[in-house]
Amino acid sequence: MEETMSVPAATASVDESCVLPRAADFDYPSVESADGVWLTLAGSGRRILDACSGGAMTTCLGHGDEAVIAAAAEQSLALPYAYQHHFTNAPQERLAERLTTDLMPEMARVRFTSGGSEANETALRLIRSYHVERGDADRWRMIAPAQSYHGSLTGALALSGRPSLRARWAPYLAGHLHLSARWRDDPDGSQALAELDRLLAEAGPGTVAAYVCEPVSAAAAPALRPPDAFWRGLDERRREHGFLVAFDEIVSGMGRTGIWLASQQLPITPDVVTIGKGLGAGYAPIAAVLCTEAVYDALDAGSGEFEHGHTWDGAPLPCAVGNAVIDRLVEIEAPARAREGGARMLAALDERLRDLALVREVRGSGLLLGIEMVDPRDGRSPLPAALDVERLVVERALAQDLLLTATATATDGIVGDQVLLAPALTATDAELDEMVARTVALLEALEPEVVGALAEAEA
Ligand SMILES: Cc1ncc(COP(=O)(O)O)c(C=O)c1O
Repeated sequence: MEETMSVPAATASVDESCVLPRAADFDYPSVESADGVWLTLAGSGRRILDACSGGAMTTCLGHGDEAVIAAAAEQSLALPYAYQHHFTNAPQERLAERLTTDLMPEMARVRFTSGGSEANETALRLIRSYHVERGDADRWRMIAPAQSYHGSLTGALALSGRPSLRARWAPYLAGHLHLSARWRDDPDGSQALAELDRLLAEAGPGTVAAYVCEPVSAAAAPALRPPDAFWRGLDERRREHGFLVAFDEIVSGMGRTGIWLASQQLPITPDVVTIGKGLGAGYAPIAAVLCTEAVYDALDAGSGEFEHGHTWDGAPLPCAVGNAVIDRLVEIEAPARAREGGARMLAALDERLRDLALVREVRGSGLLLGIEMVDPRDGRSPLPAALDVERLVVERALAQDLLLTATATATDGIVGDQVLLAPALTATDAELDEMVARTVALLEALEPEVVGALAEAEA
């Protein structure tokens, strides 16, 4: 009998694994099964409380949703795959109709993709096509807040102005313009609008294609949002300068912030929106770009083509999952649940973390919550990047059977390291309370350790 390689059950150290890991110095625990917001590790059987929807703000229905699993099985038996270039299919048509009719009626057309980065790349091509079709071919540049994340493909990555993300890939990144936008120090958005005017002038008339941003920030600065005055000013400039507004709602969409799209709460309607993560809820890789009738009309009246795509775009299996996910989100009244659960967590975290010098601010937008960590010596400055507090938080949390995410934004110089919580919208109140309790215990234990490390670094 042929000898098979033995695969380590509980963790995979880099020397034993054939996988190209994200970090070569980390022994990844192997996750074996899950139920609701509880993950079970292979080997040890340890149960991890998942406060971040699978770690990437994705599993908005938790694990083991029988209706979604049944829909996926049924579609797999009937027809899992057909290529967009040749065919359409009923699950795709139905999903596009439901999104544009029921959940996001301000949008008229949908193109499905497999993930958020692809959706944002597609949005960039769609925006560019809109202008080219209208005879406005000088418009290619995007303006986007520097403190953002729109995906890892080079088109989407170029939208972010974070040095920590861009450094290595700089030769591949298009020359978009970035807004430094420090919302906390700019409560009426006037500084950001003045900077936007400077950037529009720097780009030159008729050259800016779109302003692209997350309406509520996720990983880059969890739950931070610009003031309404900024959106109104952006809307005026859109009319005056002729660019489009595109919202990346890969995280904030599908009910997470307490409404189907976070932009539906704002005094501005985008021309293009991307959604992902919660659309497939972790049961299938699916995301989408949506646009208004006006954007579609430009293509329709022009060449009539938008020839850009990927193998799995709009395939029956992921679209059937998307339909089943929407059924369940409607059934559990997901936006209302996000509002209630989010308010509960925000109040508890705020109250219990208020006295920690390590924590500057707790923010929430539905069930998307952020905790900003700062240097406890002054309670304001970002923590030194060398301390790698972001990694410390995630590792300590996992050691204490809690899954959350943290982002190393201190190196970008705009905000400090952040903890991000984004539980499933199906989590019970008791589970949300337990996530709060574990997060508080983690940060309370971390503070003296950080103080000690800072003192040591100073000595
Ligand atoms: C706001 C935002 N946009 C886009 C993406 C990229 O999505 P994906 O990882 O599915 O490509 C992410 C991923 O975290 C995100 O947070």
